[in-house]
Amino acid sequence: MGFETLFTPLTIRGCTIRNRFVMAPMQRHKPDDFIPSPAHAEDYRDRVKGGVGLIVTQGTTMDHWSTFSPYARLFPAAYDGWRRCTDAVRESGGQIFLQLWHEGANREGGYGPSGYTAAGELRGQAMSREQIAEIIDLYAYSADVARKLGFSGVELHGAHGHLIDQFFYPASNQRTDEYGGDLAGRMRFGLEVIRAVRAAVGEDFPVGMRISQWKANLYQAKPFATPDALRAFLLPLKEAGIDILHASARRFWEPEFEGSDLGYAGWVRRLSGLPTIAVGSVGLDVDMHSSFAGVLAHSTGEEGVNELVRRFDRGDFDMVAVGRAVLIDPEWVNKLRNKRFGDMRESLTTVEIRGTTVLKNYSLPPKSA
Ligand SMILES: Cc1cc2nc3c(=O)[nH]c(=O)nc-3n(C[C@H](O)[C@H](O)[C@H](O)COP(=O)(O)O)c2cc1C
Repeated sequence: MGFETLFTPLTIRGCTIRNRFVMAPMQRHKPDDFIPSPAHAEDYRDRVKGGVGLIVTQGTTMDHWSTFSPYARLFPAAYDGWRRCTDAVRESGGQIFLQLWHEGANREGGYGPSGYTAAGELRGQAMSREQIAEIIDLYAYSADVARKLGFSGVELHGAHGHLIDQFFYPASNQRTDEYGGDLAGRMRFGLEVIRAVRAAVGEDFPVGMRISQWKANLYQAKPFATPDALRAFLLPLKEAGIDILHASARRFWEPEFEGSDLGYAGWVRRLSGLPTIAVGSVGLDVDMHSSFAGVLAHSTGEEGVNELVRRFDRGDFDMVAVGRAVLIDPEWVNKLRNKRFGDMRESLTTVEIRGTTVLKNYSLPPKSA
């Protein structure tokens, strides 16, 4: 065990990822025509050359009026652009999962289980049963398109209070039919999505899901307040056919429940028995939300990495997703492997675009420069 174990391969349903480092999904490229540009593909290629084993793409919405990201969409005109991304990653020795995203009622005028966001704001309509069936089919269709475009797998975005998570979460799911009510009812939509995706893509294609306790604009949410409650949520996901869980937290080291120093990913791994990805402020001293608010992030250096290795070594998680640190420094993983901690670029600036604070990956030069 030890540091080098982070650089051993992991195989999921025949897909071998050369090491345990994942580039976290991050919306950044915003092309006017919604088609991934050559620069977008090169961006992923740079991270793979810089040591990342698996890219999870920026959240990508599906081809339907109810879901519309200005950053990335999966629709026929964009297929060649996505193919350029999968080719770039594969040619450089990496694997790439497409993150399939539907924002549900977070989109003004859209729809969700009850039209409510997780924070309790009414922003859209409640979905009819027919609309639910249509969106389940859309997930299956989109996952199969991803397979045909050369993606190595898909990650269903079931976190952060977006559509699938809106069904899971009681405040945003106030339905009284079979898609609401108790946990089994609230999980029905997500489980039907997983089963439909599995049926569409076959047995050789990894299907992951990102999950979280926190929700957008509701960072303290903790729907699963005890290990038993969390277990009751995780086991049906496993039974439905999820291969890997991406346990989204703001800080990977933060204890999830009292009486143990296990973080969210540690608990997800222990309770589900599934391969699990940890994430949250890896290599940096402030979390994502502070970065969006303009706080500069600094490298936690060797000390931060030692804590990551300690937890990985004791089996808390199987992979590590790195977000901002690999945005700032595409070579971050290689530098870590070579213990070039002093060379890691470490600061972020933020910019405002039309009133929204957007992270910009312009960084200060490395400390040693
Ligand atoms: C610019 C930016 C865009 C993001 N977009 C997404 C996204 O599309 N899907 C998603 O699940 N998470 C998204 N996230 C969250 C990241 O995947 C990750 O969980 C978060 O940044 C924490 O990791 P870090 O502390 O290493 O940056 C985004 C984060 C950033 C900074």
